[in-house]
Amino acid sequence: MSLTVPTIDVSELQRLNSPSLVIFRQRLIDNLQSMLTVAKSPSRLRPHCKTHKMDQIIRLWIERGVTKHKAATIAECEMLAAAGASDVLFAYNPVGPNVQRIVELAAKYPACRFVVTNDHAKPLKELSAAAAAKGVRIGVMLDVNIGMDRTGITPETPGAAALYHSAKSMPGLIQAGFHVYDGHQRQMDLTERKVAVAEQWPRVQKLRSEVEALSSDVPAFACGGTPTFPCYAAMSDPRIELCPGTCVFHDAGYGKSFPDLPFQPAVAVVTRVVSRPAPDRLTLDLGNKAVAADPPKGNRVYLPDLPDAVQDIHSEEHLVLVTPDAEKYQPGDTMLAIPVHICPTSALYDRVAIVDDGKVTEFWDVTSRNRKITV
Ligand SMILES: Cc1ncc(COP(=O)(O)O)c(C=O)c1O
Repeated sequence: MSLTVPTIDVSELQRLNSPSLVIFRQRLIDNLQSMLTVAKSPSRLRPHCKTHKMDQIIRLWIERGVTKHKAATIAECEMLAAAGASDVLFAYNPVGPNVQRIVELAAKYPACRFVVTNDHAKPLKELSAAAAAKGVRIGVMLDVNIGMDRTGITPETPGAAALYHSAKSMPGLIQAGFHVYDGHQRQMDLTERKVAVAEQWPRVQKLRSEVEALSSDVPAFACGGTPTFPCYAAMSDPRIELCPGTCVFHDAGYGKSFPDLPFQPAVAVVTRVVSRPAPDRLTLDLGNKAVAADPPKGNRVYLPDLPDAVQDIHSEEHLVLVTPDAEKYQPGDTMLAIPVHICPTSALYDRVAIVDDGKVTEFWDVTSRNRKITV
């Protein structure tokens, strides 16, 4: 699907601070609906909130019947529970003070089930002791590494099934299934991506059989992100939970890499020209404190007004473009930039402007931008 760029009234653009983040509400709603369409049912979704970190968006999900959610920080977990989520997956081994923090959350929000991922006996024991002491129960998903090699345990590792099985008899813990994240699957062609996912699935199922042979249960598989979302959605096992995050907002990176995905960018950064230091140079207030710097240099934003400009210098507060069109611009001119990677970009802002029909109608907080809310 080719990306189309949302619009905002010029008068509104002139009023907004720069840099600032804007959400095009209808685009956001359309992306949520497309996610539900791909998933086929809200009960199959466990969207990752790290992309937006906003309780307003969690409420939109809850209104649409999505009860299960995924998080990367304890603050995100707290935001989810406070917004009314009834099932929160913290996709980490809780370590250090986070062991106590997740247990505190479970005590503070008894209506919410908290689940963590695990790939090692030490954090499992620590969690069990802390949960039992607090009188709460925490779900545990075995983190299964099927090729990304970032976290988890490969299905063939001796003791993988036994590790998961051990949670069954540990106080304070409940076996919650497998976590299967595969951010390394980045085939542009959807059929190739589906084949790659299907090739790994028997490894996960073999581990499931081993676990079941030990008389443990695997009630859920929390699978994938945005690129593999349609792949797992096409599979029929009712225990599969779909965990996309980025496509809530979508970005120029995924838009280019995965043209099959039915999403459109819902977020842009408003930026201004601040200088024209040479005849062919234009400098924007769009430094790496305003837009994520993890994509390779030279490709951190898509500028619909200047799609061919070379992104030459990207420092903390400035993005310097080289373009033959520089002389058409003056300091103070505004433009929209679509981030190549939206998730770390939203985390740079404490509030966002919401745009309806070209007008800013309200502002939302980026609720869990900070690392701590109360716990
Ligand atoms: C563990 C985990 N699950 C799900 C996601 C969501 O993936 P995506 O950003 O491709 O939607 C991520 C993204 O980094 C992740 O790390």
